[in-house]
Amino acid sequence: MLERLQKVMAEFGVASRRKCEELITSGAVRVNGIAVTTLGFKVDKEKDLIEVGGTLLKPAEKKVYILLNKPVGYITSAKDQFGRPTVLDLVKEVHDRVFPVGRLDYDTEGLLILTNDGELTYRITHPKHQVNKTYTAVVTGIMDSRDITAFQEGLAVEDYVTAPAKLEILKTLKHSTVVNITIHEGRNRQVRKMCAAVGHPVKSLTRIRIGQIRLDGLERGTYRHLTEPEVQYLYSLGGEQNDQD
Ligand code: URA
Repeated sequence: MLERLQKVMAEFGVASRRKCEELITSGAVRVNGIAVTTLGFKVDKEKDLIEVGGTLLKPAEKKVYILLNKPVGYITSAKDQFGRPTVLDLVKEVHDRVFPVGRLDYDTEGLLILTNDGELTYRITHPKHQVNKTYTAVVTGIMDSRDITAFQEGLAVEDYVTAPAKLEILKTLKHSTVVNITIHEGRNRQVRKMCAAVGHPVKSLTRIRIGQIRLDGLERGTYRHLTEPEVQYLYSLGGEQNDQD
């Protein structure tokens, strides 16, 4: 069966579909010895020999899905130019090569999925699938109903306007507010920028949910494997029925 090259690469565990597209256009991929740089190219994964950066692809032995409670002070990538700890340092007992699904800032903690399943990564992270991510934030100052409306209407942040987002006020303290914020976009430092845009900079930020998958008591710095129904559920988020509540 012929399938798009980037889809097959993602299935083989190279990286997310989007990253695979970048690899193709950058000229790092060869099929049957010939460089392929166009994104429409189709391959037969049973027969064609696919090389990425000179290494021949073999199907990942098994798919691995990890749910990590990331602490502050770890970066969400495989390597850091400044030598800071990475989230992979927290899953050293996992011998399969996994990569993070999306990213959390160095100073954000909470729910992070790691996997070698590029197709699932694509389903969760591609903006067209609008997967909800919920964060608990402690923000400076007192938020009120005007902020709820501003989040609902979309906020001008740098050179874009955010999609409607849900702001829920959980607790008002003396000089700060504890809120839950649900967004389905995943732009760089988006929650921090949204809060700053309404005059309430973030003091701390924790991701607590992706769709219906929750942190639920998983200790900071520890991880568990996702269950089969959880994986099926995450796959369903990229499909027609998108049951996130
Ligand atoms: N929004 C942010 O500002 N930071 C994160 O880490 C995730 C979402």
